[in-house]
Amino acid sequence: MPAPATGPSAPPTTEPTAGSSHGFDLDAYLARSRAVDLTGIPWDEVPRHPVTPETVRTLRYMQDIESHTIVYLRTLLATRAIDDPEVASFLACWIYEETFHGLALARFLEAAGCPVGPRPRPRGSEPVGKRLEAAATALVSRAWPDFCAVHMTWGAINELTTLTGYRRLAVRAGHPVLSELLARITLDESRHFFFYYRQAEQRLARPGTARVARLLVDRFWAPVGSGVQPHEELTFLAGYLFGGADGRAAARKVDGAIRRLPGFSTARLLEAWMDRFVEPRGGAKGERHGNRDD
Ligand SMILES: [Fe+2]
Ligand SMILES: [Fe+2]
Repeated sequence: MPAPATGPSAPPTTEPTAGSSHGFDLDAYLARSRAVDLTGIPWDEVPRHPVTPETVRTLRYMQDIESHTIVYLRTLLATRAIDDPEVASFLACWIYEETFHGLALARFLEAAGCPVGPRPRPRGSEPVGKRLEAAATALVSRAWPDFCAVHMTWGAINELTTLTGYRRLAVRAGHPVLSELLARITLDESRHFFFYYRQAEQRLARPGTARVARLLVDRFWAPVGSGVQPHEELTFLAGYLFGGADGRAAARKVDGAIRRLPGFSTARLLEAWMDRFVEPRGGAKGERHGNRDD
């Protein structure tokens, strides 16, 4: 596990543009990996601005996901993904950074007077369905040598959804300290997305791999936290961040970036999930419920 860097903050990575030609500089990422820089965040100003119950509810969900990334890592460790030295090195830093995102969000919630309470379900006791899913993933991974392509695609979708979700949360919450904190966290999420996306792009270049990966992603992808977090919390968060006209536009952009991956040109993931579980009429319902930016 890398130690936190003591030097200056890592310079902001250029916004990853899906389809751009640069690669991901893994050595630079590994050298700069550190806990999210909280220097100068004015924590004492947090209570001076209103924090809505919707913002608290969204932050609680995200805080739990971020600080339990290690539980998701367990599924990955049982697969071929860690046989690849680049992926293994990346994951070591990724888990470290995600854990600190969880701590940063917990600190904000505490400063806002809504500290994170004890988790209803202790770490590591996921529902049986989730454990079976992990076991099935490990089995498929052993049977199919290109399974890492699915993981990398999955990671790209989840990182981009998280990154976009944090940007939407900053807009919806309208809290200056939270906006600053989320801007710093999203720098890390951009780098995570970039790594997964480039890996996915390379691994999906083989049409046979892309075909199977597409089938698995279409069939099984759901937003991070599905099956672990209560369903009503996930649908609330999804409606809050990706509902209404502006939210739908953001969701469409996520799908648009994924559609540039080989074999995914017709994929519709986040929007299809929203249609199915949150807004059956493609955004009309969210707007009727006041789910628009103020
Ligand atoms: Fe994160
Ligand atoms: Fe991330």
